[in-house]
Amino acid sequence: MNLEEHSFIQVLFIVLWIMMPAYLSNTFAVISGGRFPIDQGKIHSDGNRILGDGKTWSGLIGGTTGGILIGYLQMNYGNSIINTLANTNNYDFWGENPIIIISLLAFGALLGDMTASFFKRRSKLNRGDKSPLLDMFDFIGMALFLTLVFDPLWLKSWILDGYAPLFTLLVATPILHRGVNIIGYKIGIKNEPW
Ligand code: CTP
Ligand code: MG
Repeated sequence: MNLEEHSFIQVLFIVLWIMMPAYLSNTFAVISGGRFPIDQGKIHSDGNRILGDGKTWSGLIGGTTGGILIGYLQMNYGNSIINTLANTNNYDFWGENPIIIISLLAFGALLGDMTASFFKRRSKLNRGDKSPLLDMFDFIGMALFLTLVFDPLWLKSWILDGYAPLFTLLVATPILHRGVNIIGYKIGIKNEPW
C-alpha cells in the first residue's frame, strides 16, 4: 500500500495514526515520571544540571512502555477506527516488524525530549522553562531519526512519500503537542501548559 492512492485528508489521518505511539509516549512520561533523575542530580561543567529533574527513569520507562502499548492497541483493535477515518483497508502501517517501529517511535520521542533538555540546560534554561520550537519538534524529530537509522525503507514509504506526510507533521505536531499539554495542565498532571 502507499499513500498516493489517498486524499490529503486521508493521508493526514494515516500519518497521525502512525505517529500516535510517539505523540502519546510523552503523555505517559508525564504520568509515570518524576522519580529517579537520569542525570542522578549531576552538574555539567557549565554549572547547570546535565538534564534536570524533568527527565527521569520512571518517565522514560513508563513513557516508552505506554507508547508501545498504544501502538499495540492500535494494531490489534484499531483497524475499524482508521478505516473509518481514512477509508483504508491496508493496515501494514508499521511495516514488517511493527513492534520494532512502534518501539523506535515511542522511545525516540522521549530520547528527543531528553536531548532537548540537555541543550536547554546548556543555554541556561531551567527545568520547565519555555523553549517553544524545541519542545514542539524535538520528540517527533528524534522518533523519525531513529526509524531512519534502523529502517530507512519504512520511513521512505510512509513519511517521505510526497509532501502531505511532512506537512501533516509540521502543522499537526505543534497543535497536538500544545493541546495535550494544556489538557494535562488543566487536569493537574503537568506543571506548565507547554
Ligand atoms: N518526565 C519524566 N521523565 C521524562 C520525561 C518527562 O519524569 N523522561 C516528566 C517530568 O515529571 C516532567 C514532566 O514529565 O516534569 C513534563 O515533561 P517535560 O515538559 O518534557 O519536562 P520539563 O519539566 O519541562 O523539563 P525540561 O525543561 O527539561 O523539558
Ligand atoms: Mg517542558
